[in-house]
Amino acid sequence: MIFRQLFDNSSCTYTYLLASRRGGEALLIDPVIDKVDHYLQLLRELDLKLVKAVDTHVHADHISGLGSLRDHTRCVTVMGRKSAADVVSMRVDEGDRIEIETIAMDVLYTPGHTDDSYCFVMADRVFTGDTLLIRGTGRTDFQHGDSRMAYHSLFNKLLKLSDDVLIYPAHDYKGDTVSTIGEEKAFNPRLQVTSADEYADIMDNLNLPNPKQMDVAVPANLSLGFSPPGKTIEERTLTAEDAGRQLGRDDIIFVDLREAGERARDGIIPGSVHLPYGAIDEHVKPGSLLNAIASQTGKNLILYCAFGERSALALETLREAGIENVRHLGGGTDAWIKSSGTMGKA
Ligand SMILES: [Fe+2]
Repeated sequence: MIFRQLFDNSSCTYTYLLASRRGGEALLIDPVIDKVDHYLQLLRELDLKLVKAVDTHVHADHISGLGSLRDHTRCVTVMGRKSAADVVSMRVDEGDRIEIETIAMDVLYTPGHTDDSYCFVMADRVFTGDTLLIRGTGRTDFQHGDSRMAYHSLFNKLLKLSDDVLIYPAHDYKGDTVSTIGEEKAFNPRLQVTSADEYADIMDNLNLPNPKQMDVAVPANLSLGFSPPGKTIEERTLTAEDAGRQLGRDDIIFVDLREAGERARDGIIPGSVHLPYGAIDEHVKPGSLLNAIASQTGKNLILYCAFGERSALALETLREAGIENVRHLGGGTDAWIKSSGTMGKA
């Protein structure tokens, strides 16, 4: 596996790059906007294709690189279901997996530092965001933080992982880079407590100043949505109601760009075909399925995904490939379900 731990000096944030091989797919965890050029250069140097950018939670101390990375690379942006960010491409719950090629991370919901904090677990390591730091834990006094919930997330979830699992946090202010579950259980001063009350007593009396960038970073991180859509996309965007009226027509094919896990979890628009967004570059090549359907059957395509972001990006990819008889479902299945559109079983 290719693994890089990258550091942003000004916010003391760690960003992680994962890929299974040179020439393959890559994923970034907790990217910082100021470092996006650096990530893009590293991706080029290692011959990697960024396919996902993931935030562990809405950060208060730096602006996320998710939106900028999506705009540069058309990668899928991923956050937890509980995140209040306006639009990210894919939302995950506890029990879901975030996958690229041969790498998979299991999602753990670990509220406490914020109400949208998640950890990502692999066989030998866990990305803990601000839930668990090296010899510390994330503060619980803003962004719907809750010290008792944090205790539960730590003691009943994270610390149940095996002692030799490596911990990679979102921040370190002292220069430490990695620890283990066992090491933190033994030496993390915040974890030497015997009850949620005792933990809450420590956390509720830290009296920390707010992060320097908080007033800028939080609002920015809540509006990471794909924007501006641009005229060519806007003209090809259907509301859920408009799309609903096209359902069942012989000359229309709905194309689901989501991943298998999302389809199984949330259902599908009945009768749609599945062409995952991650393989869109392959699908638009001459001779490929999507290209053949679009150019030879005379049918019109309606692309959809979870929130309308992947389908909007895919419209651009298709347009560049000369496939024009395509529209997309604005707001994705989220808008579809809200407008009482039926979903079938995948
Ligand atoms: Fe945080």
